[in-house]
Amino acid sequence: MDNLKVSASKEAKGGGSTVARNLLYLPAEVKPTALSITAAPITVNLGGGNNAQVWAYNQSFPGPTIRANRGDNATITFQNQLPEHSIIHWHGLVVSTENDGQPQQAIQTGETYDYNFSINQRAAFNWYHPHPHMMTGEQVYNGLAGGFIVNDSEESAKNLPSGKYEVPLVIRDATFSKSGDMLYKPTSGGFFGQIALVNGTKDPYLDVDRAVYRFRILNGANSRVFGLALSNGASMHLIGNDGGLLPLSSDQARIDMGNGERTDVLIDFRNYPAGSKIMLRDLRAGWDILEFRVGNTEQKPFYATLPLTSAVEPLPAAVKTRTFSFDGMTKINGNLYDVNRIDWTVKKGDTELWVFKTNGNAPHPVHIHGASFQVVSRSGGRGKLFAWEAGWKDTVLLEDRETVTVRIRFDSFTGRYVMHCHKLEHEDMGMMANFEVVQ
Ligand code: C2O
Ligand code: CU
Repeated sequence: MDNLKVSASKEAKGGGSTVARNLLYLPAEVKPTALSITAAPITVNLGGGNNAQVWAYNQSFPGPTIRANRGDNATITFQNQLPEHSIIHWHGLVVSTENDGQPQQAIQTGETYDYNFSINQRAAFNWYHPHPHMMTGEQVYNGLAGGFIVNDSEESAKNLPSGKYEVPLVIRDATFSKSGDMLYKPTSGGFFGQIALVNGTKDPYLDVDRAVYRFRILNGANSRVFGLALSNGASMHLIGNDGGLLPLSSDQARIDMGNGERTDVLIDFRNYPAGSKIMLRDLRAGWDILEFRVGNTEQKPFYATLPLTSAVEPLPAAVKTRTFSFDGMTKINGNLYDVNRIDWTVKKGDTELWVFKTNGNAPHPVHIHGASFQVVSRSGGRGKLFAWEAGWKDTVLLEDRETVTVRIRFDSFTGRYVMHCHKLEHEDMGMMANFEVVQ
């Protein structure tokens, strides 16, 4: 299937270098009801006639964006047409164990898996991706990932930009061979690709009106951490993260995102003259990520009131503290992942403090299934919390020498879940653990 990423043009860039830029691909939106998702190998045009073999959900790279309302019942059938076993995890959605897509639930080639869960959580930008043990890195790298937006009435009342003014950006990296094939050659330190892809597009651009846009950003890279900023130094208005709208929105000149983390930002193009070009850049690698091309159309009215506020009640005081050490590149508290071992149990409804430490080889973006958490503190390393770490999170970035403490409460389901490093190569090598929520 043609992924509609064709229109390339030669454009002069600031420094005089030229790069052919390609129209940003926007995956189709689908509803979570009676949805069938097939994973299979396909050939896609990454833009400018760059064809590559990828693995895709429903022939779209990245997969279709699922859009749900709070209260919806999701009925999704996963069909595995990959040459190896797989399973889909709904990252950021709190669902029962059998709907969570954990490694032990992986299905073989040709098999199907039925999900049936109700969506009972705040509006947020979540995502979905494979989770088979030791193969998640390869499968996500090959192209299996998609956005999963949940809307609710609290958020709709805020009058945020929608329709063509709301754009999901799945940012990742990749390396290509001379013949244009995507290469996956991870080292023990992770996988670091040579270029960025946004929504599967190479060197993308997006035509924007002179209007305020809402960008739902996912760091969908296997290992790479991004430090996002605009080329003209303008701020982005940060309104949300993994768990939805922040208690208080704010202007940010730079936003750092670990693997699996999401941010929700407004960018105001109303005051740029038509013809302006602004680049979304990654300051860590010094990469151009996405070029915004400002057009003539004006859409001045903007109805949301800034800064935006959204009540987030703090979790109560913790009744227990647990410490987890992310050791080397493969272990948590000295253990490699064992799919059959439950590493600890948590009482449903109890608030706990979980303290994450590392003895090196970070960054380790720590992700927990089964509940969102609130980040309490960071000491060592960067030594503070960032605006995008307020509110509710499901993934938090642990850099070298850092200790990060979160407050968490599992109040939805009993059953088993996993915690792991979302640097996918670390996860695949064993930096993952099972725990069980008990009554
Ligand atoms: Cu995004 Cu357990 O994963
Ligand atoms: Cu790690």
